[in-house]
Amino acid sequence: MKGVVLAGGTGSRLFPLTKITNKHLLPIYDKPMIYYPIQTLVDAGIREIMLVTGGRNSGDFLRLLANGREFGLKDLHYTYQEGEGGIADALALAEHFADGKSICVILGDNLIEGTIRRAVEDFRKQDAGAKILLKEVPDAERFGVAEIRDGRIIGIEEKPQRPKSNYAVTGIYMYDATVFEKVRKLVPSRRGELEITDVNNAYIDEGSMTYAHLEGWWTDAGTFESLLRAGNLVAGSRPSVDAEAASVEADVDSARSL
Ligand code: G1P
Repeated sequence: MKGVVLAGGTGSRLFPLTKITNKHLLPIYDKPMIYYPIQTLVDAGIREIMLVTGGRNSGDFLRLLANGREFGLKDLHYTYQEGEGGIADALALAEHFADGKSICVILGDNLIEGTIRRAVEDFRKQDAGAKILLKEVPDAERFGVAEIRDGRIIGIEEKPQRPKSNYAVTGIYMYDATVFEKVRKLVPSRRGELEITDVNNAYIDEGSMTYAHLEGWWTDAGTFESLLRAGNLVAGSRPSVDAEAASVEADVDSARSL
C-alpha cells in the first residue's frame, strides 16, 4: 500500500506562528511536526510515500526531508496544492501516484503514540472500500464524529454541536482506488472546502466502510492547545532529550577522568 501525507493549508488557527512558515514545519518537542506522520506510515511498513503541500513555504519541505533517507526511504514523492480547497481536494492530487491501488492517507498534523500496522494489514485483506481509525475523546465536537449502531458506522458528522458519540474520526484513512471518483462527486461545504467526512460518508452509504479503535494517545496539533499537548505527549513518551545529553556528557567526563 502507498502512503499519502496531507500537509497543505494555511494553518490560520495557529497565526502568527504560521505567518512565515507552514504549520507542519513547526516543532513538536524535538522534531518538526511532519516527521511524526511520515514515521507513522513507515512504522506500518509503507515505503512509497507522497507529500501533498502548498503555499509559499512548500520548498522548505524538500530542504528538510529531501529523499526521506532519515526514515529509511529511497525517495519521497511531492506534489503541490494550489489554493485552499480542503483535505479532499489535496487528496485528489495523489490520484496519479496511487495508480489504481489502495492508499493510506494521514493528515500532517496527526500524531499517535502507537502503531497503525495492524489496521493497515487488516485493510490489505479487505477486498475494497475504506477503513478509518476512531479514538474516544472528551471534546468530540472539534472533530468528525462517528455514529455507531450494531457495530457498524452509520454516519459521520463534521464538528457537530451535539456529537452523537465520543468517537472522533482520526486523520488516518485507508481507501481503495474508487476514492478519487468519490472526491470528484463532492460539492464544497459551508466553509467552502471539499470535506474528507463527505468522502467517508460516501463509503458508509455504499456499505464498504470498516473501522478500528486506535490504541494509545492520539492528538492533532492544529490549534495552540493541541500543539502544546502534542509536544507534551511526545516528551512524556520518550526519555528526555536533556537527560540523554546529560548522560552523554557524564560519559565523556568519566572517560576523561580515567
Ligand atoms: C479534520 C477532519 C476531521 C478530523 C480531524 C482529525 O479536521 O475534517 O473530520 O476528525 O481532521 O484531525 P480539521 O482539523 O482539518 O478541522
